[in-house]
Amino acid sequence: MDDRLITSSMTMEDEQIEYSLRPRFLNEYIGQHNVKEHMRIYIEAAKHRGEPLDHALFYGPPGLGKTTLAAIVANEMGGNLRVTSGPAISHAGDLAAILTNLSPGDVLFIDEIHRLNSSVEEVLYPAMEDYSIDIIIGKGPSAHSIRLDLPKFTLIGATTRMGMLTSPLRDRFGIKEQLELYNPEELKEIIERSADILNVKIDTEGALEIASRSRGTPRIVNRLLKRVRDYAQVRGNGEIDLETARAGLDMLAIDEMGLDAVDRRMLATMIEKFGGRPVGLDTIAAATGDDATTIEDVYEPYLIQLGFIARTPRGRIVMPLGYQHMGYAPPADMGQQKMNF
Ligand code: ADE
Repeated sequence: MDDRLITSSMTMEDEQIEYSLRPRFLNEYIGQHNVKEHMRIYIEAAKHRGEPLDHALFYGPPGLGKTTLAAIVANEMGGNLRVTSGPAISHAGDLAAILTNLSPGDVLFIDEIHRLNSSVEEVLYPAMEDYSIDIIIGKGPSAHSIRLDLPKFTLIGATTRMGMLTSPLRDRFGIKEQLELYNPEELKEIIERSADILNVKIDTEGALEIASRSRGTPRIVNRLLKRVRDYAQVRGNGEIDLETARAGLDMLAIDEMGLDAVDRRMLATMIEKFGGRPVGLDTIAAATGDDATTIEDVYEPYLIQLGFIARTPRGRIVMPLGYQHMGYAPPADMGQQKMNF
């Protein structure tokens, strides 16, 4: 799945692109209007009081700029950003080492925070609540614990799966913000900003064409910009207009709604094998050969946003727009099916 051009997980090239294109302050960050407004207020208030910002949790589909936002918060607060991730911290001692090395006002960013194991998570509770950790010294009957004070820091957690966070951890975040998929107009602004930084000429129609095929995701829009730029350089005059954008994206087999072969296979399977009746996630995964978690985190949010599929208590169903896009007529009892959610 990581070979997909429209995957929203991070590739090495993305890391380089994202670093150079990343906005550094809130006023450069496009979209996510509510999140920005909330953060602006919380940051200003915390700075005014001379306190660190409350711990914050950013959640939503991958590729929407959670890390970028954490870096912006650190910048706006005037602290350093330390970046790690749930799977990278396997022992409680690893986290203790990270925490004791922080300076006052630092922002510790833990990506995929839902993947922390429980012994590590338990170290985080007193660290978040009282800026302290308990360390066990020695073994057996002589073992005893000592309490270490930590500098006042801000934890920013990011997750694509809010539901997998334990409630004690979730409850310790004073700020919880949901990032949403971007609309084509916002993505167009992002692509124009990126093209400017990368020194690529692109017109409004070309930008909108790439934006509308990027699944609401800045990471994808920036990646497609680079691929279409390659296409324009070799097959055109190096500038991106509607025609080169279309031709470049068609060559990449990304259709006019931003769906690739994997999305279309999923929709076709649901329609052809299951007649559009509710299908469980694991059944879809088994039938298409894709990973259930990836389907749920990566493919589904966009297909749901487009109104192509819906989640119901009995499983996933294909909606009339999904049938239309795949060139099928919706079943005659579609209205009935919707009534039975
Ligand atoms: N690059 C990635 N996400 C962005 C955003 N939301 N605003 C500006 N540039 C971005």
